[in-house]
Amino acid sequence: MGGARIVVVADSEEFVRAGADLVADAIGRDPTATVVAATGRSPMGVYAALAERRRAGLDASRITVVQLDEYLGLAPDDRRSLSGWMRRSFLEPLGVPDDRVMYLPVAGDLEAACPAFDEHVRERGGVDLAILGLGPNGHLGFNEPPSDRRAPTRVVGLARATVEANARYWGGDVADVPTQAVTLGMASLLDARTIVLLASGPEKHGIVRRALEGPVGPQVPASFLQETEATVIVDSAAWGEA
Ligand code: F6R
Repeated sequence: MGGARIVVVADSEEFVRAGADLVADAIGRDPTATVVAATGRSPMGVYAALAERRRAGLDASRITVVQLDEYLGLAPDDRRSLSGWMRRSFLEPLGVPDDRVMYLPVAGDLEAACPAFDEHVRERGGVDLAILGLGPNGHLGFNEPPSDRRAPTRVVGLARATVEANARYWGGDVADVPTQAVTLGMASLLDARTIVLLASGPEKHGIVRRALEGPVGPQVPASFLQETEATVIVDSAAWGEA
C-alpha cells in the first residue's frame, strides 16, 4: 500500500501547471487511456491548460472518457446538465470525439443499467486516469457520505451541502439544483491506475485535512484515497500553510 502523495503548490498558476503536467503525462504514456474527468470548478484551469497543450501537440483524440456523474431529471440540453459541462470544458477543447464517451445511464431501468455500466467499465479494463475534485462533505463524484470503498455506480440523493455548493454553478439558487443524480461508484474511482485530486481555496481547507489526515471511512469518502497512490494537488490556501 502506497499512500497518497500530496503536492502543495503556491498559487493558481502552479496548480494548473502541476495538474496539466500529470494529465498530459498520463495521456502521453497511454494515448488510448480510459479517463474520468470531473466537472465542477476545481479542474477548469487544468482543462484550459490542456487545451493549450493540444495546440502544442497533445493528442487526446483516442482516449475514452467515462462520465463521472450526472443529475437526474434534466433534459439533455438543460443548461445544468453535467454532460454538457463536460463537453464544453473537456471533450471539445481536447478534441475527444463524442463516440469515445461512455455516458452514465440517466433514463430507463437504472437499477439494471448502473451495474451493467460498471461491468462495461470493468470489461474495458477499468479506469486508467481519474481527474477528481473534492466535495465540501468529502464526496468524490457524487459518492455522498456514507459511501463505502466498494460502492458501485448507482442513483444517489444529493446531500444538502452538495446542493448548496452546486447552487453556485447555476446562479446561486438551491431550488435550481436537482436533488437526485447518478454517480460512478467509489470502486471504479479507487481502482483507477492514476488518480489526481484537485482542491484549491480556503473553503476546502477543513475537508482536505479531514480527507487526507483524518480516519479512513465511509463518512468522508475521499479519505479512502489515503489507501491509494493518488496524487493530491492542493494550493496553500486549501492545505493551510502560510
Ligand atoms: C463534479 C463532481 C464533484 C466535484 C466536487 C468539487 O463532476 O464530481 O465531486 O468535483 O463537488 O466541486 P468544485 O470543484 O466545484 O469545488
